Amino acid sequence: MTRYEALATTLAEEIRAGHIPIGSRLPSLRYVIAQHGVSQSTVLRAYYLLEEWGLIRAEERSGFYVTPGAGIQQAASTQAATLAESAKVDISDLVFSVLDAARHPGIVPLGSAFPSPLLFPSARLLKSLAQGTRSLSPWSTVADLPPGNDHLRRQIVLRYIGTGLSVATDEIVVTNGALEALNLCLMAVTRPGDVIAVESPGFYAALQAIERLDLRAVEIPVDPVTGLDLDALAVALEKHPIRACWFMTNFQNPTGVTLSVEKKKALVELLAKREIPLIEDDVYQELHFSRDRPLPAKAFDTKGLVMHCSSFSKTLAPGYRIGWVAAGRFADRVQRLKLMTTLSASIPVQAGIADYLQYGGYDKHLRKLRNAFKSQLASMDAALRRSLPRDVRWTLPNGGYFLWLQLPNAVDAMALHRRAIGHGISIAPGPIFSATHSFENCIRLNFGHPWDTSIDEAVRVLADILKS
Ligand SMILES: Cc1ncc(COP(=O)(O)O)c(C=O)c1O
Repeated sequence: MTRYEALATTLAEEIRAGHIPIGSRLPSLRYVIAQHGVSQSTVLRAYYLLEEWGLIRAEERSGFYVTPGAGIQQAASTQAATLAESAKVDISDLVFSVLDAARHPGIVPLGSAFPSPLLFPSARLLKSLAQGTRSLSPWSTVADLPPGNDHLRRQIVLRYIGTGLSVATDEIVVTNGALEALNLCLMAVTRPGDVIAVESPGFYAALQAIERLDLRAVEIPVDPVTGLDLDALAVALEKHPIRACWFMTNFQNPTGVTLSVEKKKALVELLAKREIPLIEDDVYQELHFSRDRPLPAKAFDTKGLVMHCSSFSKTLAPGYRIGWVAAGRFADRVQRLKLMTTLSASIPVQAGIADYLQYGGYDKHLRKLRNAFKSQLASMDAALRRSLPRDVRWTLPNGGYFLWLQLPNAVDAMALHRRAIGHGISIAPGPIFSATHSFENCIRLNFGHPWDTSIDEAVRVLADILKS
């Protein structure tokens, strides 16, 4: 190792250990020269190397600063996703470090899980919040405790009817976003040590919930074109005492893939034979680009085993934190858990959303939103085609706002993430979507923001980093 590499390694360790905090300026050249007994050119070369590693960033006439991405430790190197043994999950540190790095204001949010707030009808929603709360009875604090506000639950049932599903109002429990619904469902059907089947790649919050509840995960592969591998699931069901499954059937996060109707039916039948509950995460269902809303697996459930979870976070009002579950035979248990954990979702907000669903023009807003995402996807696709090397692969999703990119095998998505953060761009690196930190050469990009020059430029910069 040369002197400048040794110095860069020492400084990198200090940065990663938090001794030189994110956002702070690196010590002056004079100080480092005196402290380490090296020449000015050694310090400069070390700083350039740190910049290349994505740990620091030069600011003109001001010095070198530690970038937000510097907090991220290198992910453990693992095999590509295969049908895993059931395993304890340890994903949270990695996920939090990636999410934290992407939260800084001014970052181009290609790694974000949220669409642009500018696409939501916030003024109209405020009007509904005023109208809905004005007509609230003072007794609603008690009346609207779980399972939740009646008006809202009936409006939610009407949307199921619009998709051709008969769901009873009694099945609906209102929650603080879909994430709470999913977590409560998991708690309702498991005990510590149980084995849960999850997707690989899959939504990291499923892995975090499994970690928190001391469960074990079996990862079932998801193909970006055909979706969940049902044969692999059948094998896993033979091999492991799987207690429940947590899957997405429409516009899966992160791949964007939707299961065919035949596969949804086959999935429900496979699980019904063994009486295994399915926690169905369907938060992107309304964001379809083709004419009709895709059916959930819940549509084929005859035994009450499917717990269908969704919310208004991706379509209407992320900050309002209103979600729900149509919990089938588990509705009572979920309702009790809701009472025991967070008591209730905000009562005025439930009333406001109910008013909006009835009078606010939700379907019209959804049509606009879908069109916006569709055109943003076309812009993203064109920009990627213009700049990226030919050996990068992606499949255009038919809804949602995520694009899953498979980069050449040699690319390390975590390193790409760190370097991109150094340039003010977030991406979601593949390893956060798997219990084994696989998908090291994959990234998820968000196209949920109105296309502008900063996004166009960010795609070009990403391509340049990749090529280098
Ligand atoms: C797949 C998936 N499920 C659930 C959630 C959480 O939804 P909510 O914000 O309604 O809790 C998210 C949010 O990122 C998501 O991507």
